[in-house]
Amino acid sequence: MSYVITIDGPAGAGKSSVAKILAKKLGINYLDTGAIYRAIALILNSAEIKSDDELNIREALNNIKIELQDGKIFVNDLDVSSEIRTPEADKLASEYSAVPAVREALLNLQRVQIFHGSLIAEGRDVGSVVFPDAELKFFITASPEARAKRRFEQRKRKGLSANYNEILNAINSRDDNDSHRRLSPLKVPENAIYIDTSEMSQDQVINKILNIVAKKELN
Ligand code: DC
Repeated sequence: MSYVITIDGPAGAGKSSVAKILAKKLGINYLDTGAIYRAIALILNSAEIKSDDELNIREALNNIKIELQDGKIFVNDLDVSSEIRTPEADKLASEYSAVPAVREALLNLQRVQIFHGSLIAEGRDVGSVVFPDAELKFFITASPEARAKRRFEQRKRKGLSANYNEILNAINSRDDNDSHRRLSPLKVPENAIYIDTSEMSQDQVINKILNIVAKKELN
């Protein structure tokens, strides 16, 4: 029997890295829902369709084909996996993901991923809206300062420009957007296990989750 594990939480809490590693260790699929929102936002923006233009957004979404394959994301057969990781894409994804037409269109695309087998889905509403019946739900968070520090160090390691205060401001503003939108705001899903990672290493978070998964005896 297939099962679903969900991980929700704010930007920069380390959900993606943790979910990716857990998926490998558990031998199940990884669903990065943020990547889908990012890709859609980029496409709508490059088509010059504004986020308040629901009519044209609906029309455009009917003609967009999104595919997830081996950790890559394709829009109308075009690989946009690196384009979606820019600060510009961060902002656009947060803006367009508040649009009801966008959320409706993406709901089914996320749900059908279960037909490919068990999965660990990561995002902002995967435990509350997309997979409310998931076998295990987690909410991973950390203080804005801890998240900004991690992102700052990550960019430095990659040799990219980094300014701590700018990163912290961007995180606070994304948190605000994601938590206060009318549809599917970021919140702790019912029955989710809450993990504050501010003082934890990535290994500690992974081990904690693996222990909980083992006790649950999924499969
Ligand atoms: O997790 P991320 O940073 O890649 O997500 C990018 C944006 O997409 C984020 O600002 C909120 C939105 N998002 C969402 O609304 N619902 C999800 N399930 C995943 C992401």
